[in-house]
Amino acid sequence: MRLYDIIEKKRDGFELSDEEIKFFIGGYVDGTVPEYQISALLMAIFFRGMNDREITTLTHTMMHSGDIVDLSEFGSVTVDKHSTGGVGDKTSLIVAPIVASLGGIMAKMSGRGLGHTGGTVDKLESIPGFDTGISSEAFLEQVRKVGVAVIGSTKNLAPADKKLYALRDVTATVNSIPLIASSIMSKKLAAGAHNIVLDVKIGSGAFLKDEEEGRLLAEKMVNIGKNSGRNIAAVITDMDRPLGFAVGNSVEVLEAVSVLKCEKIDDLYTVCKALASNLLSLCHGWSIEESEAKVDEVIKNGTALETFKNWISAQGGDISFVDEPSVLGKTDFEIEITAQQDGYISGMDAAMIGKTASVLGAGRETLDDVIDHTAGIILKKKTGDAVKKGEVIAVFLTSKEDKIETAKNMFASAVEFSTEKPKDKPLIYGIVK
Ligand code: URA
Repeated sequence: MRLYDIIEKKRDGFELSDEEIKFFIGGYVDGTVPEYQISALLMAIFFRGMNDREITTLTHTMMHSGDIVDLSEFGSVTVDKHSTGGVGDKTSLIVAPIVASLGGIMAKMSGRGLGHTGGTVDKLESIPGFDTGISSEAFLEQVRKVGVAVIGSTKNLAPADKKLYALRDVTATVNSIPLIASSIMSKKLAAGAHNIVLDVKIGSGAFLKDEEEGRLLAEKMVNIGKNSGRNIAAVITDMDRPLGFAVGNSVEVLEAVSVLKCEKIDDLYTVCKALASNLLSLCHGWSIEESEAKVDEVIKNGTALETFKNWISAQGGDISFVDEPSVLGKTDFEIEITAQQDGYISGMDAAMIGKTASVLGAGRETLDDVIDHTAGIILKKKTGDAVKKGEVIAVFLTSKEDKIETAKNMFASAVEFSTEKPKDKPLIYGIVK
């Protein structure tokens, strides 16, 4: 078999056989096929696409390139969630304890933030003492005791995807539905949970900008999950503005706690409730209405907050921040950003707001950058809100004085004003099962 022939076949729009897909992934991982040929093949896939069989084979080949987590001792109630990435997305911090409070077993691997999007691992590491690198034995032991544990993805989880993703990143081939679907699902399947809910985000802060693309990606991933014997659903949610009001790391943890304390019932809770109730419905066979009622109950009666505290302290975290936020530390500067005119906020470029938070210290451009867990942005107003000239619309938290002007300009370019109230957009576009 020659890679040249495989590239030519895909370039001309033909489907690849299972053997050809295994040959190219195997050759790339073991270094017998040069990167320039894989790049050419990725570009051919980008333009020609893949059918469901090709996508499933690609997913399974990448999934089996490394370790497969064995959660079989927990039976059929293991759960996992995945977000395609957004700004202000702290849903895992809320969904995990809710679902664990209701009998789901959340043994989860998460990633770090990169570019404009945040990562659950960074958020958790803003809690003093929290260890995202515990051994697999300690991870499973904690799951047995508390029902929830979250660690950073291990190096050997779908290593073929890690290599391929890095190449896609520099060859302008990230935004391809078959490549995104197989990349995400190879990791989710290898992570071992039986019930999976995907949060497919669409809008200015997401990979995919429109609903049609989001629905197609959701359908492809749900198909792969079902073909692999998993219970799976995808919730298509809005990322045309940050989710919630906090963007950063410790600020997002605090916002998550305020939801768990039942202090805030807003867009963030609505998305968490949809994700959690779909997981519970898959996991226990409950109806969505029944699941939603139970989610409300564990938020209102404090059970989810208790589970959160148990989880955080089991993983070494100091939970005193739940009652005393200053434990998480503070930046040197708090800069108020005000509206330049009367009217309404008519749009927010969520990706640009994520990049602004990153410049303030909350994110990284390359995986080696060191982040400031206390930096970020607290939004005071969001799309659709009325504002008066001079009113505070956001607060920057940073210790990088030299970046404040740049951040102000970036933020100004991200927020649009109008004299008329913009039309409300849905927060949840639909659910694919
Ligand atoms: N997230 C992934 O893990 N892979 C992609 O291809 C896109 C987003």
